Amino acid sequence: MAKILKRERLVPNIHLIEVEAPEIAMKSKPGQFVIIMPDERGERIPLTIADWDREKGSVTSIFMVVGTSTHKLSYLKTGDEVPVFVGPLGKPSEIEKFGTVLCAGGCFGIAAIYPIARALKEAGNKIIILLDVKANYVLYWEDKLRAIADQFFVSARDGYFDCKDYVRKTLQSIIKKGKKIDRVVSIGCTYLMYTCSEATRPHGVNTVVSLNPIMVDGTGMCGACRVTVGDKTRFACVDGPDFDGHLVDWEELFSRRKSYFEDEIQSLCYWEKKNFP
Ligand SMILES: Cc1cc2nc3c(=O)[nH]c(=O)nc-3n(C[C@H](O)[C@H](O)[C@H](O)COP(=O)(O)OP(=O)(O)OC[C@H]3O[C@@H](n4cnc5c(N)ncnc54)[C@H](O)[C@@H]3O)c2cc1C
Ligand code: FES
Repeated sequence: MAKILKRERLVPNIHLIEVEAPEIAMKSKPGQFVIIMPDERGERIPLTIADWDREKGSVTSIFMVVGTSTHKLSYLKTGDEVPVFVGPLGKPSEIEKFGTVLCAGGCFGIAAIYPIARALKEAGNKIIILLDVKANYVLYWEDKLRAIADQFFVSARDGYFDCKDYVRKTLQSIIKKGKKIDRVVSIGCTYLMYTCSEATRPHGVNTVVSLNPIMVDGTGMCGACRVTVGDKTRFACVDGPDFDGHLVDWEELFSRRKSYFEDEIQSLCYWEKKNFP
């Protein structure tokens, strides 16, 4: 069992969860994830490690409420326990001196890029942060990310920040303005990562994405997280989650993520009816 030290709503639909996990905190590296099970009867879901505190022995993740498991997580309180909290899993992100790295994040990816951007900055890179939000009131961790950014952009549909455009257009315009970018790291929903990869493809800018296929065991045994990258079969949990965005078979990923759509909807309806009759 792992104890919840904090669970709070950061902005509508996005929550922070801090879990007591000293061994995971000691070993965590940027880009890795944990698998959490919200209750004894629940499923195992992967969440990116957004931060850790080795002294306190805690690990923090940020999650977006989408289906049954994330709804369950959003009702956990300080002092509650979860039956499964395992990690760190997956290969850590590549941290080297690349030059100028643009880190693009949306929804939970705004938090997921934080430890990567921080480590890249410490490695001597110039960091451009580009965040994508529907509106200004769903932006979180702005201060944390601004603190490590050499340049900071937010694309918000309500036009509150720099621009209204989706991240693809903003990224393209940053590149077209002649800004030399040596690497792009993109984390968020599949569509955001796909569009970032398409934006950089014509310019040949190396683009790393953190893939989020359905996972079950997270240790390479079940095959649920199978993705095709550069015509090779990969398991995102052990070979990734970071991959070259220009080599990912996006169509297959979009289609495999929808495999249990009907069951997911039914599960959420059943859970809501049972808990909020
Ligand atoms: C390596 C890895 C790291 C991840 N890190 C995080 C993280 O840090 N924070 C986080 O919130 N999620 C993260 N995810 C995604 C997360 O695991 C899923 O959102 C979660 O499993 C959904 O479970 P659920 O039961 O709540 O929803 P489900 O019932 O599984 O899904 C409900 C519906 O929401 C859709 N959906 C599922 N996930 C998403 C999503 N992320 N965005 C938009 N729609 C979605 C599904 O297609 C389905 O239609 C990660 C996934 C992977 C593989
Ligand atoms: S989640 Fe089972 S092989 Fe990756």
